[in-house]
Amino acid sequence: MKRVLILNGPNLNMLGLREPDIYGEHTLDDVKGWCIERGQQLGFDIDFRQSNHEGELVTWIQEARGTIDGLLINAAAYTHTSVAIHDALKLLDIPIIEVHISDPKKREEFRHISYIEPVASEVVAGEGPKGYLLALEKLGEL
Ligand code: DQA
Repeated sequence: MKRVLILNGPNLNMLGLREPDIYGEHTLDDVKGWCIERGQQLGFDIDFRQSNHEGELVTWIQEARGTIDGLLINAAAYTHTSVAIHDALKLLDIPIIEVHISDPKKREEFRHISYIEPVASEVVAGEGPKGYLLALEKLGEL
């Protein structure tokens, strides 16, 4: 089994309640369930986490060094601000896939910059919450 860490940033715990016109009506628990199921089919042992705290995400990325085989990250708003997460991701020498439910590049200008993109192997954006599954499949190909 390959170990895959899926990290979710701030406000993603509010999926289902938050701006459903943009993010849909499914909850993060729904997404977690789908990922675990698809992960089993792909031979991935999924560790699915969410935090509203930048430092906690940084710590989890640091701890992933040498212990996981692939990372999916939806850093949410930290995507557009966090040099700390960017730097932490550089510690990893495994495939990293950046995921977004919406397509930030088609939204407000402040969402057009991603600090994750330069360190990611692939980006999946604008595919809704099922984009996590596309990202897992891409990870399987890498
Ligand atoms: C998001 C897009 C970000 O711009 C936003 O801050 C989020 C969610 C997405 O999944 O579409 O919180 O990462």
